Amino acid sequence: MDKVKIGIIGTGYIGNVHGRIYSRDERAEVSALFDIVPERAERTAKAVGGKVCSSRKELLENCDAVLVCSPNKTHKEIALHAIAEGRHVFCEKPFAIGLENAKKLLATANQSNKIFQVGHNRRFAPVYARLKELVSADTPHSAHIKMNRGELKNPVWTGDTKVTGGFLYETTIHLFDMMRFQFGEISELAAYGSQHEYPEIDEFSIILKFKNGFHCTFASSSDASWHFPFERIEVFFHHRTILTEEMERLFDSNGFDHKTQNIQTFSCHMLEKFEKWGYLQEDKAFIDSILEGKEPPVTAFDGFKSVELVESVYEAIRTGGKIKFD
Ligand SMILES: NC(=O)c1ccc[n+]([C@@H]2O[C@H](COP(=O)([O-])OP(=O)(O)OC[C@H]3O[C@@H](n4cnc5c(N)ncnc54)[C@H](O)[C@@H]3O)[C@@H](O)[C@H]2O)c1
Repeated sequence: MDKVKIGIIGTGYIGNVHGRIYSRDERAEVSALFDIVPERAERTAKAVGGKVCSSRKELLENCDAVLVCSPNKTHKEIALHAIAEGRHVFCEKPFAIGLENAKKLLATANQSNKIFQVGHNRRFAPVYARLKELVSADTPHSAHIKMNRGELKNPVWTGDTKVTGGFLYETTIHLFDMMRFQFGEISELAAYGSQHEYPEIDEFSIILKFKNGFHCTFASSSDASWHFPFERIEVFFHHRTILTEEMERLFDSNGFDHKTQNIQTFSCHMLEKFEKWGYLQEDKAFIDSILEGKEPPVTAFDGFKSVELVESVYEAIRTGGKIKFD
């Protein structure tokens, strides 16, 4: 079969990450680029190839699959347009902003006979893939999860809720999706939030219960500095703790005293960033799904559930009550 022709909408940071990966993938070629700032698309074309298009329509005419890599608020409309034109879609996180938009996009993606994948790259990061193997082979009891950020200044739009939908949509959503991936469906949550550095709620403390009895605490701050590790999951089992440090390392500590304790380290620090963060694997999976006609590993439903969780946390803070899920 011919190479899958990839069109990239939004050629900023993440558009270039995917563009560079596909420019090295022999099953794909970057065929079209569109950015509302044409110089950005021109710069990307020099690095990864592809026709610089002057409109989304022109881009859609020149590709089989569209990568939606523009800021959050634009995802839904661009993804709907690409589905309507019969293209496969890879939509960066967040899937959409707001429950109604997410419902509409989910329903449309489900009716399409093309592939729709959401960019929750962390599922593919080797540290989190390893955590999933270990969690699945044992019985986790509870966890403490952290997803912080140093600032909401770079890119400039990350501090503008009209563009992001809020900090939870921009950053925390990564580990919201991870919670479902690792521990299953959530049954209820309570949340507290406060506002300090930015004109939006920028600190969060959440307590969650899962349908299988598992429970966890989750902390997320937008102005915590980029202190390492800015994201971490600590999972507690019977006489065992597994903890991650960003996508660099995982420690597995087993045993109930110092004589029986066995600590294993799984380190990914030598991997190239695109592989360490799972971008390479998610992009490969998207092409696999297109070529083999199989369900992508991160579906529109997964994207929808992460939006539902974001909205539920904001609602819990607004109302001061618990949110229960069916
Ligand atoms: N999965 C991840 O790890 C990850 C990492 C970074 C960003 N993202 C997501 O990717 C998206 C882009 O983030 P970024 O950091 O690359 O931002 P960025 O600002 O670096 O790039 C966005 C680009 O989109 C262009 N753009 C804006 N509106 C557009 C429109 N309507 N049509 C076409 N182009 C448009 C801008 O000119 C800019 O070049 C965001 O939704 C972000 O949440 C995901």
